Amino acid sequence: MQKGASEHDLLGLAGYLAPEGYVDTLREELCGVGAEVAFELGRLLFAARQTEDPAWAQNVWRDPRLIPIRSIRDGARKLRAIQRNWSLYSARHHRRAALIRDALPPVSAKPLEFGAPPPRAPLGSFTLYDEHAIIASPRCSSPFKNGEVRFVEDKRGPPSRAYLKLWEALTLVGIRPGPNDVCVDLGASPGGFTWVLSELGASVIAVDRAPLDPAIAARHNVRQELGDAFSLDPRRLGAIDWLVADIAAYPRRLLELLSRWDRAGALRRAICTIKFQGKTDHAAARAFTERLGGTLRHLSHNRHELTWMRIPADPPPRDPTPGDTH
Ligand SMILES: C[S@@+](CC[C@H](N)C(=O)[O-])C[C@H]1O[C@@H](n2cnc3c(N)ncnc32)[C@H](O)[C@@H]1O
Repeated sequence: MQKGASEHDLLGLAGYLAPEGYVDTLREELCGVGAEVAFELGRLLFAARQTEDPAWAQNVWRDPRLIPIRSIRDGARKLRAIQRNWSLYSARHHRRAALIRDALPPVSAKPLEFGAPPPRAPLGSFTLYDEHAIIASPRCSSPFKNGEVRFVEDKRGPPSRAYLKLWEALTLVGIRPGPNDVCVDLGASPGGFTWVLSELGASVIAVDRAPLDPAIAARHNVRQELGDAFSLDPRRLGAIDWLVADIAAYPRRLLELLSRWDRAGALRRAICTIKFQGKTDHAAARAFTERLGGTLRHLSHNRHELTWMRIPADPPPRDPTPGDTH
């Protein structure tokens, strides 16, 4: 967008915020669906509005607009006139942008306790386009500042930081396994995901070639299965309510596994990490939703990986075979 840009330049566009380190990946994804990037401000890419949010966008600015401002006070006043809550994504003129943010009502920056719902109040995002214009979007896809979910962490219970990915996924989908649920965790070692599920009271079957952390393996509601996840027949495990997977595996291989589990009726609710090595295989990622439905997201706790989630409000009935595996 040129200097002296007008509101019309943003018509039909959305802002897509890439996670730190993944601007190229998001740009590739957008180009792959025919959405050329019109212009970029730091990690924020503006491209034609898509019906499906790109997986690598950590936050989507749904209705960006250009707001001319005469001063810092004027900028804050104009944003405040739209709504109360704003989060700054600063790409240019950082000091001036921060002064506008500081002149707005405060928005809580407190980390979330796992189990608490995401903030409900609409949170807009803004950035300085130049010294005399803000780009602001009152509606964004994430209720968290720049799509970053920060939790009050548990430094003692979980044996790895992977538990934060599952906390984030469960927070976003808004439902969690409970004491009557049987969960299978594929690629479970050392046990971060298993710890989350076990803490929620679910029965967990933890599958990995490597052993769990002994404290996790010793939990009364955890059963460890040492072996290859790819040669496991889900029907041997009985009824399964949730499948979580964080296996180090090629995306296409993981999709084959999930498709087989789906055909066996073992995929009532699923949260799975898709890991990439080297170049991101966008076609392989898209194949998950094309074949199995659900959604793909880069969670703020993901690295070079995406999370595929399929959590139907009304999942298919539990397999009638005996589900008591403990
Ligand atoms: C990122 S780690 C999982 C971390 C775990 N989710 C946690 O929360 O602590 C990936 C795991 O995949 C396991 N893995 C890789 N290939 C496997 C296979 N074919 N069968 C079972 N586990 C496998 C590895 O042993 C490793 O423990």
